[in-house]
Amino acid sequence: MDPEVAPISTALGILGMPARVAYFGLLEAGKLKKEDTVVVSGAAGAVGSTVVQIAKIKACKVIGIAGTQEKLDYLTNELGADAVINYKENKSLEEMTAALKIAAPNGIDVYYDNVGGVITDAVFNLINYKARILICGQISQYNHGLETPEMGPRFLHKMLYTRATIQGILSRDYNDRMEEMLAEMGPWLKEGKLKYKETIEEGFNNLPKALAGMFEGVNTRKMIVRV
Ligand SMILES: NC(=O)c1ccc[n+]([C@@H]2O[C@H](COP(=O)([O-])OP(=O)(O)OC[C@H]3O[C@@H](n4cnc5c(N)ncnc54)[C@H](OP(=O)(O)O)[C@@H]3O)[C@@H](O)[C@H]2O)c1
Repeated sequence: MDPEVAPISTALGILGMPARVAYFGLLEAGKLKKEDTVVVSGAAGAVGSTVVQIAKIKACKVIGIAGTQEKLDYLTNELGADAVINYKENKSLEEMTAALKIAAPNGIDVYYDNVGGVITDAVFNLINYKARILICGQISQYNHGLETPEMGPRFLHKMLYTRATIQGILSRDYNDRMEEMLAEMGPWLKEGKLKYKETIEEGFNNLPKALAGMFEGVNTRKMIVRV
């Protein structure tokens, strides 16, 4: 990263790997269109907060899901999310479905999933015709062992009537397209259209603490360890 353009740490976050999966996942795999209703889980994290901002720049309605009031305020007041939901206050499928119905009365066109579990089950209830479901991460499932996922309602039949698509997205698939991304996102950052925050832990010894913190939601946006 050219330090004249942006601080070097942005190469790890808002202009780095998380941005790549946000940018190409949303625009290319997600075929984002103006005025789409977009739901983002893990919305205050490094990937999610970039997705929220790109979708707003592209004139979409954005609903962000996160786990603390501070993060919800950040999403609304600083990143411009149109609606926010605290998943810790809407733990059951019924509660999350009801909250999503209020936030997205016309249904959901794009779901950018960083979390999985109940949130994803609830989104399936509300997907629109030709909705695009993007599986970027499943952080709620990592600690249970990914081969034995939580049991719960499954709504794959909703894909049938809606002709929706579901696609896994990986940052590394777009490794050779950084210049293309930076050509659009670099100016957004310079113009102040893209905002970013970093949570920085000092010292190599704090690596395990930083990693554990990601599962506890202690970071807003990119978690960085400075060695
Ligand atoms: N596909 C790819 O190429 C790619 C690349 C990078 C990351 N990822 C994945 O994308 C997701 C987000 O990554 P990131 O770098 O943005 O992470 P991050 O900045 O560390 O954000 C993670 C956030 O997820 C939330 N979270 C943690 N456990 C949760 C749970 N059980 N239920 C709901 N929310 C939970 C926490 O915020 P709250 O306070 O809101 O709970 C936490 O701060 C992860 O699943 C990661 O594995 C995928």
